[in-house]
Amino acid sequence: MLAIRGLRKTFGGRTVLDGFDLTVEAGEFVALLGPNGSGKSTALRCVVGLETPDGGSVSVDGNAAMVFQKIHLVGRRTALDNVCSGALGRLPLHRSVFFGQDVREEAVRCLDRVGLADRVLERCARLSGGQQQRVAIARALCQRANVILADEPVSALDPQAAVQVMELLVELANDGLAVVAVLHQPELARTYAHRIVEMGAFA
Ligand SMILES: Nc1ncnc2c1ncn2[C@@H]1O[C@H](COP(=O)(O)OP(=O)(O)OP(=O)(O)O)[C@@H](O)[C@H]1O
Ligand SMILES: [Mg+2]
Repeated sequence: MLAIRGLRKTFGGRTVLDGFDLTVEAGEFVALLGPNGSGKSTALRCVVGLETPDGGSVSVDGNAAMVFQKIHLVGRRTALDNVCSGALGRLPLHRSVFFGQDVREEAVRCLDRVGLADRVLERCARLSGGQQQRVAIARALCQRANVILADEPVSALDPQAAVQVMELLVELANDGLAVVAVLHQPELARTYAHRIVEMGAFA
């Protein structure tokens, strides 16, 4: 589970987050909505350490991993290699040059979980946007994340691929992960999320 309490963040004297609270339980899929600039990305970035909060607390039960609108895969490497890289954080340095059989098997299971068992050895650049986003989610699973933070995961996808990614996120929550997704599509949020949290212009 994820618990954000009283999160505060200012940039150059401008307050972006002023006491933001959010709890996402294991098994829950929360959609985070709000206008541009309301601090949605900043809140998620504070959870994974990409920003340092000025106040408040963040507590994660286990690991948190983030997926982004801009997907950040290595296009010339295979889906398998990209997912294996999710394990880097827990491997000793000498093991991280070549991924061992155990990591590769775990990565294949993660790719199977996102419906891409048949594309394991495909270079990511050759996958569709929706498939690439699912590889990024598989990489988060290979980080053994219990909390998945998705910042506009479907904004760059066509409607059909967006639905597949939303269905996957809600399934992962139903399997016991805590999932929070920033969305700009209220109808997708209403259809798939267990709960909607709206951030105001000054959350
Ligand atoms: N590194 C930064 N330096 C300065 N200002 C920043 C930085 N990151 C974010 N901001 C500002 O903080 C405010 C909130 O940004 P944030 O990206 O969290 O909003 P958001 O809700 O995700 O918006 P959007 O829907 O457009 O993605 C914005 O005004 C933004 O310009
Ligand atoms: Mg944002």
